Amino acid sequence: MTHKPIRKAVFPVAGLGTRFLPATKAIPKEMLPVVDRPLIQYAVDEAREAEIEQMIFVTGRGKSAIEDHFDIAYELERTMTDRGKDISVLEPTRLGPGNCAYVRQQEPMGLGHAIWCARDIVGDEPFAIFLPDEFMHGSPGCMAQMVAEYEKTGGNLLSVLEVPREQVSSYGVIDPGAAQGKLTEVKGLVEKPKVEAAPSNLIISGRYILQPEVMRVLEHQGKGAGGEIQLTDAMAQMIGKQPFHAVTFDGARYDCGSKTGYIEANLAVALSRPDMADEVRAIAQRLVG
Ligand code: G1P
Repeated sequence: MTHKPIRKAVFPVAGLGTRFLPATKAIPKEMLPVVDRPLIQYAVDEAREAEIEQMIFVTGRGKSAIEDHFDIAYELERTMTDRGKDISVLEPTRLGPGNCAYVRQQEPMGLGHAIWCARDIVGDEPFAIFLPDEFMHGSPGCMAQMVAEYEKTGGNLLSVLEVPREQVSSYGVIDPGAAQGKLTEVKGLVEKPKVEAAPSNLIISGRYILQPEVMRVLEHQGKGAGGEIQLTDAMAQMIGKQPFHAVTFDGARYDCGSKTGYIEANLAVALSRPDMADEVRAIAQRLVG
């Protein structure tokens, strides 16, 4: 069976980033670099690797640096070219007009509401969602791995991973059914449960493939955990009506919404880069030794 391809991705990037203040007072948290690329760039690269064509950013006030990042920097490119400098490093930052769209979420009403803001651009086709502060590092990337599974199952897919049980209350948690290879059936979903009430320690790790019907559910979705309109609650209503699976990502995940996770991501990426791994390893050993 062939399923409708995933051509569009939604990036909710309207969050205030209060956990990284003062760094994020004047720049969006999605623009924080891991080594030399902003977090949002890694997410867009992961989408492109999965053959997604259109990037839809749900932004808010103070987030225009993201639009500038994916635009052509005319003066910069002109000056560098005139001076004989190589500008190929800028290539992945260029999203042509047909490949990106921006929509604003005017009030912080939750992740579900942010996704709903993109409904007209998503239209009537399945789409992906990327939460850029969940930094997924691996090859193939997390979304490419999910698309490979989607081609078998269709329907809705989430990326999941195991966390220590005491951490589940910070996340969306799945109630797992039968598992086969990388795929696990999703029987239930709950956003930010109490540790005692959590159906498992498998958390949603910020990558989704969803059917467009979720937009209709979101339209009527009331407030959930934290008084916000939760994507997890809307997805939970689709279980039983459409296929719903979780994919365990074969790779590393860094929680760049936390300071220590962000430092870990920088160190891990630096240690994986041939241009700096040896030097960074020596520095790390000196600092801890
Ligand atoms: C969001 C989702 C949650 C998911 C998490 C991953 O929560 O609502 O289900 O597990 O991202 O980081 P937030 O981090 O916005 O509170």
